[in-house]
Amino acid sequence: MVSTTEQLRLQLLTVLSDRQFHSGTELGELFGISRSAISQHIQTIKEWGIDVFAVAGKGYRLAEAISLLDLEPIRQQLSTVLTTLPVLEYFPHIDSTNAYLMDRLGDGQLANGHCVLAEAQTQGRGRRGRVWQSPFASNIYLSMFWRLERGVAAAMGLSLVIGVCVVRALARFNIPTQLKWPNDVLVNGKKLAGILVELQGQNGGECDVVIGVGLNVAMPGNSAAQIDQPWIDIKTLIGQLPDRSILAAELIAQLVEALPLYDAEGFTPFMDAWRQHDAFMGKTVKVISGTHQTLGTVRGVTSQGALLLSCAESGELKTFFGGEVSLRGAE
Ligand code: BTN
Repeated sequence: MVSTTEQLRLQLLTVLSDRQFHSGTELGELFGISRSAISQHIQTIKEWGIDVFAVAGKGYRLAEAISLLDLEPIRQQLSTVLTTLPVLEYFPHIDSTNAYLMDRLGDGQLANGHCVLAEAQTQGRGRRGRVWQSPFASNIYLSMFWRLERGVAAAMGLSLVIGVCVVRALARFNIPTQLKWPNDVLVNGKKLAGILVELQGQNGGECDVVIGVGLNVAMPGNSAAQIDQPWIDIKTLIGQLPDRSILAAELIAQLVEALPLYDAEGFTPFMDAWRQHDAFMGKTVKVISGTHQTLGTVRGVTSQGALLLSCAESGELKTFFGGEVSLRGAE
């Protein structure tokens, strides 16, 4: 899956991840290639968005610490909690992990829990057609396949359940988070993670879903400048760079544990957890649904995962369904 050249560049980055200087000669000897070949690989690594210092007489050094993904520790960690490990696929670069799995739905080759992780996405997809900033080795970009036996109708509420999974995974790292309906994960009102659930199914039959999670771990400045909403990353929250593989493993474990229960019983077993982390409960907000805007007070979520709002104008309790609805704090 990963080409030999890309493999070499990833190994080069792993050597440099100690943030010490390594001379071109030393690296050339280590990889059995010339100094000028090393210099070319370093150039490509820079093009991936990684800041590498080159100092004459000293060699190369990374400007910032880096945590590359590694499937081995992910598998090891998962094997402590799961009897059957899901298939894990890794890409240094991909257009979108969600698009990759969506394209493979027809193959009949995907088993529940099939996971795709990437270091970078060139066309990361956000909700409502937005771009998801996906710089190299900075954040988590994860997609998982699942087949819901209860079909499309049962998929309502799924994205809220995934929000609960992200909250639970982050709680293991002592990161307290809140949820913004339908599925943004926030810390102090700033977005830490986003969830994109894509479906394919027929009425009455099973429904295939691709669950995408983007989690900000250490957002570099140039990507940050392109995000048009308040955001935060884990590095800022905990004051150090976490191991991305350990984070990914925890996320996968939470998803694989929650999805069978969700498929059997729907959103109800997750409702209390969701409510405990509801960032907008009792707050005055504006709900934008299509071209309509409704001002009101949030009264929580239903057992199906719909938003309950008491409307400011009519006083009536309204229910909002569907992923197209966005919620903003009313200005
Ligand atoms: C949102 O807009 O809040 C949802 C963002 C979802 C981003 C993730 S990153 C992994 C997966 N692949 C994508 O292209 N998008 C999702």
